[in-house]
Amino acid sequence: MSDPLLETLSVALGSRSYDIVIGTHLFAQLGARLQPLLPGKQVAIVSNTTVAPLYLETVAASLRQHGFVTLPILLPDGEAHKNWENLQKIFDALIQHRFERSSTLLALGGGVVGDMTGFAAATFLRGVSFVQVPTTLLAQVDASIGGKTGINHPLGKNLLGAFYQPRQVIIDVDTLATLPARERLAGMAEVIKYGILWDAAFFERLEQDLEGVLRLEQHLLIATIRACCAIKATIVAQDERETATGQRALLNLGHTFGHAIETLTGYGHLLHGEAVAIGMVMAADLSQAMGLCSATEARRIAQLIARCGLPVRAPWFPVEQYLEAMARDKKVLGGAVRLVLVDHIGQASIQSTVPMELIREMIGRNMSPPP
Ligand code: NAD
Ligand code: GLY
Repeated sequence: MSDPLLETLSVALGSRSYDIVIGTHLFAQLGARLQPLLPGKQVAIVSNTTVAPLYLETVAASLRQHGFVTLPILLPDGEAHKNWENLQKIFDALIQHRFERSSTLLALGGGVVGDMTGFAAATFLRGVSFVQVPTTLLAQVDASIGGKTGINHPLGKNLLGAFYQPRQVIIDVDTLATLPARERLAGMAEVIKYGILWDAAFFERLEQDLEGVLRLEQHLLIATIRACCAIKATIVAQDERETATGQRALLNLGHTFGHAIETLTGYGHLLHGEAVAIGMVMAADLSQAMGLCSATEARRIAQLIARCGLPVRAPWFPVEQYLEAMARDKKVLGGAVRLVLVDHIGQASIQSTVPMELIREMIGRNMSPPP
């Protein structure tokens, strides 16, 4: 009998197209799913010291049952470890265990593990197969899809990397039950982002179903993750490499302000999704000031974010410090700050001529009072 909770969709990239499979109890079927897809029998399962004790043995057992030879590679947990040193550890293990061109790297974890494993797969022996098995909400709706891989440099996040697509993305929503609540909510910011920038009907469904999604009700959760994956798949198929005129940059809604908040507060103080949540409220407010979205729409965006328990007010810092941090953002092009603003719920656009005075006023309106 077919599984009523199973969803499959495709990222259409010609010969590099791949499926995203979403469902429950998927880890036990992993070996059977991957058997027809992978070129060889060696699979390195890259995970971290938090996720591996929860899921690695189930994944490895399923692969072994189908004739794969598995090699666990465990990294330390955390964004601070997304660096050359740990990338090198992956390469060391692969070389010591004589991995070949036909071998596969499987990423079992959140976005940190996924980005690092993908980059290792892109570069080891000039490219080997790669499978994403994301275990955070953020990685399930965003990081595991679309082929952005990489590591951090001491001078900035994600500065070294490659576009390299996986062979399949396997999303078992059961993993969200062990994810800390704060991490789940941070992932919700990215979920809401898709509604704001692409799909008004999805945004309305979230307004209706939010509490059920937050309670991890399976049907709602799978439908929600599926909707996000479908939007990201559509955008990536149209603009895989985030060209200057393409639509992938819209996925950065809330990120310019969010990155400024992360820089000012120091990394690790707020989760990335929490900073993006505040950034989206700021972007909606600025959009209203620019005569784009209505006051009602800006209020609906802030309300939905607040209902998740996510922060909506920016921490207090002098406005000049916000502007300096924004000017250093990766999205600055030729000196002009490019902002993703909200035309209306369901549609966003890139704006590079926003008057500085409006940005200053918006930051002032959205900041917490000074301590
Ligand atoms: P993360 O990978 O650090 O995971 C968050 C925490 O949850 C970690 O402590 C992790 O060990 C733990 N964890 C993961 N799954 C768990 C589970 N099921 N149960 C219990 N604990 C679990 O963070 P993240 O939010 O998943 O990803 C953030 C990273 O993703 C950043 O490095 C960011 O740059 C990257 N990212 C990449 C893309 C992309 O397109 N490639 C997009 C967005 C973000
Ligand atoms: N997370 C943004 C992107 O994949 O382009």
